[in-house]
Amino acid sequence: MTIDAPTSVDAVWRLCLAIARRPPGGPLPAGVGWHAASGHALEAAWAPEAHAMFDLLKPLLDGCPGEAGWTVGQLGQSLDGCIATHTGDSCFVNGPEGLVHVHRLRALCDAVIVGAGTAEFDNPQLTTRRVPGPNATRVVLDPSLRVPATARVFHDGQAPTLLVCGEDRRAEAEARFGAARVVTVARQADTRWLPLPDVLRALHARGLRRLFVEGGGITVSEFVRQGCLDRLHLIVAPVVIGDGQRGLTVRPARAMGDALRPPSRTFAVGGDVLWDMDLRTAPMPNPSPESRSAPG
Ligand SMILES: NC(=O)c1ccc[n+]([C@@H]2O[C@H](COP(=O)([O-])OP(=O)(O)OC[C@H]3O[C@@H](n4cnc5c(N)ncnc54)[C@H](OP(=O)(O)O)[C@@H]3O)[C@@H](O)[C@H]2O)c1
Repeated sequence: MTIDAPTSVDAVWRLCLAIARRPPGGPLPAGVGWHAASGHALEAAWAPEAHAMFDLLKPLLDGCPGEAGWTVGQLGQSLDGCIATHTGDSCFVNGPEGLVHVHRLRALCDAVIVGAGTAEFDNPQLTTRRVPGPNATRVVLDPSLRVPATARVFHDGQAPTLLVCGEDRRAEAEARFGAARVVTVARQADTRWLPLPDVLRALHARGLRRLFVEGGGITVSEFVRQGCLDRLHLIVAPVVIGDGQRGLTVRPARAMGDALRPPSRTFAVGGDVLWDMDLRTAPMPNPSPESRSAPG
């Protein structure tokens, strides 16, 4: 594939897609310097916004098209940590550039995952209509089968859609959505949560290895708690919602030394600030009972 000198964001975005979508072992498209040791090199001729976008996406592109894949999450939140109002309205927490970024993540991944709350309340399409790029398979985590079969993702035909639930609900789910659309995992008796490592294995087995967990707060938080996110993009908008739906809620730290403090980078996304956190090198720490806050 030949690509003209990429200087604009649009041109570099097409380059990103070409990198991500090349077949395993396939060559990189023209326009990307390649260093076996250091990954993709940034091109000096690119516009500053194009540089920034490529830099932000580079950790994901470096993983393409790997066997292992990756799982990236996102939450768009207010300054006070809310992803929606208390009535569930989240249109829109972030500015248009943040929405474009979310659509880019959809286009780079094989599957976009949402929780039942988002599927039920937002009735989203989960397509890439704001950017050039393919639609991903849509995956709804719905252990209690509360998302109506009339939801758009099950009807609009824009991309395949899978429903994930426990083995215990397989028969009911297959009757409602068809066997081809249902993915089940064994549930443990002592928790309401589906074991996400098993969910990821089931998706990988279907060839879905680059995964984007789009929301909402409960779902992304559970991915973090179960150690199943490689990266998290937290897009913070300069808005205060007050009383709203919580974003990231993980196990409370008793002391600052127990807090999750992953290596992070920041990017301006329109008027918002995107925090790109590397969770692979910062797994959830196990707090020791002796941990105590230290002053100062
Ligand atoms: N600002 C943003 O970036 C953003 C993104 C997406 C959505 N939203 C907003 O967020 C709100 C919905 O978010 P939410 O946090 O309330 O709900 P959610 O995360 O969309 O869905 C949570 C539900 O999904 C199911 N679920 C997810 N992971 C599971 C697991 N590992 N095991 C078992 N069940 C699992 C559970 O369903 P059951 O309760 O049935 O067990 C869980 O309660 C909406 O207002 C939406 O507009 C905002």
